[in-house]
Amino acid sequence: MVKITTQIIAEHYRSRHQELTLTWSKYFHYGLFQGVAEKLLTGQERTLDTMAELAVIGSRTKLLDVGSGIGSSCLYLARKYECHAVGVDLVGSLTRVGIGRVKRLGLEKRVAFEIGEAGSLPFADESFDVVISNEVLCHVVDRAKAIAEMWRVLKQKGRLVFTDLLDDQQRITAETQQFYDYLKQPVVCESLQSYQQLLTAVGFQVRQIRDYSAEIVSNYEAALKHLQEVRSDVLDLFGLEAYSTTKAFYEYCLSAPIREHIGWGMFFVIK
Ligand SMILES: C[S@@+](CC[C@H](N)C(=O)[O-])C[C@H]1O[C@@H](n2cnc3c(N)ncnc32)[C@H](O)[C@@H]1O
Repeated sequence: MVKITTQIIAEHYRSRHQELTLTWSKYFHYGLFQGVAEKLLTGQERTLDTMAELAVIGSRTKLLDVGSGIGSSCLYLARKYECHAVGVDLVGSLTRVGIGRVKRLGLEKRVAFEIGEAGSLPFADESFDVVISNEVLCHVVDRAKAIAEMWRVLKQKGRLVFTDLLDDQQRITAETQQFYDYLKQPVVCESLQSYQQLLTAVGFQVRQIRDYSAEIVSNYEAALKHLQEVRSDVLDLFGLEAYSTTKAFYEYCLSAPIREHIGWGMFFVIK
């Protein structure tokens, strides 16, 4: 097995973000669904609304999104909840997409993006009221350090709400190998319990831990449906191999081994 490094993860997102935007959506995170016919995007925005409700995001909130990708979550939250949002991501080309979107929307006074690494955030202590993060810590080798950084940049009583992939077994098995390889995970995911330990070790007070593992199936069902709808665009822009690989991966994610081994959760904690 290739040892996955931060550089490999950065290259993965740098080279694949356009394809990912078409084959998955502009949000590179999971959604919460209320009906079978819902689109992936609807579920993904419900994830952000749920986080906004937990962390009480409003017009006076200064928010940081760690691992902000192409900036979609910051833009959504800033427009809907009128907060000030800063996104930080490892990959310069992703933050540049975000910066372009901010300019086109005329949101320069409220939204900004910077390059930075979760383990050494480029912000002063106690700068933010809320920190959010979606499906990022799974990529980070030293998660304790990244969580300590989130603690450092939060104001006293600041709120951290994040979602992430989980693996109860906390080891790569024959069933989960393909999942970890495809998503470029450097180490196995945390479990609900190990995250709780990491968060309390830094000093966070745990308010809510939600096991949303059952939602993973709806995500890949919605993604497969979406992929069929955009099939001809994917073939035109990225070719048959990209289409077939993505389809095979989504189908594999609907299979029993993934349902049994890989989970997803939301964590809401206070400094
Ligand atoms: C699954 S995507 C999620 C993007 C975004 N949170 C969203 O919901 O659309 C993971 C993101 O984390 C970023 N990332 C991975 N490791 C990181 C690190 N150590 N520090 C900062 N960003 C990182 C990647 O570049 C990528 O944009």
